[in-house]
Amino acid sequence: MQNYSVAEILQSDKFLQEVVVRGWVRTFRSNRFIALNDGSTIRNVQCVIDFENTPEDVLKRITTGAALEIKGTLAESMGSGQNVEVQVTELTVLGDSSPEEYPIQPKKHSMEFLRENAHLRVRTNTFSAVMRVRSALSFAIHKYFTENGFYNFHAPIITGSDAEGAGEMFSVSTLDKKNPPLNDQGEIDFKEDFFGKETNLTVSGQLEAETYAMALGKVYTFGPTFRAENSNTSRHLAEFWMIEPEMAFYDLDANMDLAEDFIKSILGYILDHCQEDLEFLEKRLLDEEKRKPMAERSDMPLREKLRFIIDNNFKRVTYTEAIEILRNSKPNKKKKFKFPIDAWGADLQSEHERYLVEKHFKAPVILFDYPANIKAFYMRLNDDGKTVRAMDVLFPGIGEIVGGSQREERLDVLREKIKALGIDEKELWWYLDLRKFGTAVHSGFGLGFERMVQFATGMGNIRDVIPYPRTPQNAEF
Ligand code: 4AD
Repeated sequence: MQNYSVAEILQSDKFLQEVVVRGWVRTFRSNRFIALNDGSTIRNVQCVIDFENTPEDVLKRITTGAALEIKGTLAESMGSGQNVEVQVTELTVLGDSSPEEYPIQPKKHSMEFLRENAHLRVRTNTFSAVMRVRSALSFAIHKYFTENGFYNFHAPIITGSDAEGAGEMFSVSTLDKKNPPLNDQGEIDFKEDFFGKETNLTVSGQLEAETYAMALGKVYTFGPTFRAENSNTSRHLAEFWMIEPEMAFYDLDANMDLAEDFIKSILGYILDHCQEDLEFLEKRLLDEEKRKPMAERSDMPLREKLRFIIDNNFKRVTYTEAIEILRNSKPNKKKKFKFPIDAWGADLQSEHERYLVEKHFKAPVILFDYPANIKAFYMRLNDDGKTVRAMDVLFPGIGEIVGGSQREERLDVLREKIKALGIDEKELWWYLDLRKFGTAVHSGFGLGFERMVQFATGMGNIRDVIPYPRTPQNAEF
């Protein structure tokens, strides 16, 4: 007898075939019908037992969460919602699950409760669907870049450079916390630390990716990044995964073209390959929306939202144009924004980004040419001397999903910027070398993976699209 996954069984029409299937009990009804799930699909296979010939002590052990091995015969199902079921000939309980103790019962649990049980929440329909879509998106990303001539570059996770400036960093040290070695100034002497210098977890693989783009042409990173910001929002994690392509000889326009094509491609992939999971998540989202006040409801079903991104050209708008739109907008005039926009130079908040996307343009937006002083030092200065070739991709419901730029390739201009910021040139000697030896126009961007998974699955909180979220005051598991 051959082993089959639940997904394989449900697709099969080979009635009378003998099969072996293993999985976990979702429900057990009328001492007869076991709904078995093995993670291969959102659907369960119905396994029907002959309870008269099943010993009482075995029946008692068929409880929600228990692991079973079932041998049986494929049969046409009389039940609704499935074509095929398994008529059980032999049942083995591989692992018991105490009904008194197992937290994931077949009923609605709150998201908070499931977060507290993150090691088991993936056994629910919602979380298994989200995690399968997450996995498919990850594959689609590698597929897209591989098929488009990019090399996957593994950026270091421990970094000795803290010049990126993208956020507060987590330090990495093996020094004795209670009694660290001190230097002559009474400060911690990192020369004695593991790496002989102060090191941190990376906030971004970009600077290192630039070095590889300037040799391999087109590279991308896809790895964890860490930010010690105290942001308790539904869009921030302290540990998140970022995809950062970096391309030699690409200017900002080519960078925007790539970002748009890439995003459309990966969303197209999951629409084609995750139909059942997306259908389930769409229904779930509709239910959730119904519970919201009318004004906050989104009337677009999930898959329509994904198609909307694929079918529409992203609107490309300069920061300066966006500020004009926001300044003259109703919520600004009526003082509805938490952060009113009154002058050019203001940093945009999520409420402004979402207004532009959801209310004004009603389309995904790429904002570009931001004021230099609100963006990172490495972005290429425009001829006006006050804006840089930065771009942010803004999405409905999410706000910023991608941040990127054309990089400053001119040694003298970059040096000036570094100096003005008070950064020691010595710290960035290797980064400056790129501008000394064969410098060229180059660009890249960073896509926050979890924000994309959030968009693709319609989940309201970023903590529910990563297996084990790391947020302020929370690193359980
Ligand atoms: O805009 P950011 O900070 O850009 C960079 O780090 C650049 N080095 C990228 C590059 O040009 N190679 O971050 C990029 C994206 C954001 O648009 C957002 O989607 C995501 O990373 N992001 C976060 N996601 C979850 N939690 C956080 N705390 C995030 N911070 C940024």
